[in-house]
Amino acid sequence: MNLTPYFGSFGGQFVPEVLMPPLIELEEAMKNYLDSPEFLEQNNNLLSSWAGRPSPLTFCPVLSAELGVEIYLKREDLLHTGAHKVNNTLGQALLARFMGKTSLVAETGAGQHGVATAAAAARLGLSTIVFMGEVDVRRQRLNVERMKLLGAEVVAVKDGSKTLKDAINEALRHWLAHQKTTHYCFGTAAGPHPFPTLVRHFQSVISREARAQFLTAVGRLPDKVVACVGGGSNAIGGFYEFLPDEEVDLVGVEAGGTGEPGCWNSAPINLGRPGILHGQLSMLLQDPCGQVQPSHSISAGLDYPGVGPEHSHLAATGRVKYDVVCDSEALEAFKLLSRTEGVIPALESSHALAWVVKMAGLKDGSLKKNSKVLVILSGRGDKDMDIYLDYLGR
Ligand SMILES: Cc1ncc(COP(=O)(O)O)c(C=O)c1O
Repeated sequence: MNLTPYFGSFGGQFVPEVLMPPLIELEEAMKNYLDSPEFLEQNNNLLSSWAGRPSPLTFCPVLSAELGVEIYLKREDLLHTGAHKVNNTLGQALLARFMGKTSLVAETGAGQHGVATAAAAARLGLSTIVFMGEVDVRRQRLNVERMKLLGAEVVAVKDGSKTLKDAINEALRHWLAHQKTTHYCFGTAAGPHPFPTLVRHFQSVISREARAQFLTAVGRLPDKVVACVGGGSNAIGGFYEFLPDEEVDLVGVEAGGTGEPGCWNSAPINLGRPGILHGQLSMLLQDPCGQVQPSHSISAGLDYPGVGPEHSHLAATGRVKYDVVCDSEALEAFKLLSRTEGVIPALESSHALAWVVKMAGLKDGSLKKNSKVLVILSGRGDKDMDIYLDYLGR
């Protein structure tokens, strides 16, 4: 495993000196355990017998006929706890146990990472504390109760924009104070080195499976792989094994919020510039003085002003194209997939799907007729029903 702290000019460890010992300890643990036969055996067993891997590849006949492109879904929504997050939390919880830690601390936005952390911790006998912005606690009430049921303590963060950014700040503070006993189970492929590499390591199972499944089902690779980008973990996991396949276009979809001019959004690659947040140098929404700007998206999991450094690098090199989809487009895609294929997608994943719908509708050659598109369906939408009902005015 390549453990360099930079992806091109992005990444690094922009943390106070006191946070360096646990980051160094984590990097050492990655070297010692991740490729060891004991770790691999236990992780693979848990992934298949507890988390539900491999997740299926599903062809969408009705939607494909409607849009004129062949759509395939990588079904991370079918995993235990309902999203891709569990690939990472299970791996990190197991690593924490190999390191002799007894507790996990985590941040969460949509609550999916918090639920996946609490579940993995319960399975592996670790205690958990989860920090969550007060705004997200309100809009993802069901997930808060699930975390508590799974034995986690949930702390509502009242600082700043009261969303994911502020939850990460609090979780880092907690980790600093409890580093001897506690592992920080970071939820996305961002943050100080080695987290972007660690999270990508556990999430790249998505593209490893999907690439092989696609070849078996279709006989060739997809023309495009599309994934939503919050911090970037489902996208980097969904892209990673396709990176050397130059004939496969990779598309990351950021959240454009309401889409009105001057509105808050959550699209740092398209609308931000390089800056430092949460220990990393990466694309960032910031004002002219470098102060972090609040983000906004209808989907809590995408509501983050930064993005993992590997995505900033892949955008800079041009290997991955990043585009923006707004709240209303995502909500329409949420309805469309439910109606046509009987699958209710998470609002986060609906952004990826909405991009395909938009491009198919343009008929300007952006998405050729009958092209084969793999969409990473990062999670299921049950958690988003309240938001959907609000949208309908019910
Ligand atoms: C279902 C789902 N998809 C996507 C995301 C965005 O995170 P990431 O960009 O790390 O995949 C989240 C975050 O909570 C999520 O719950």
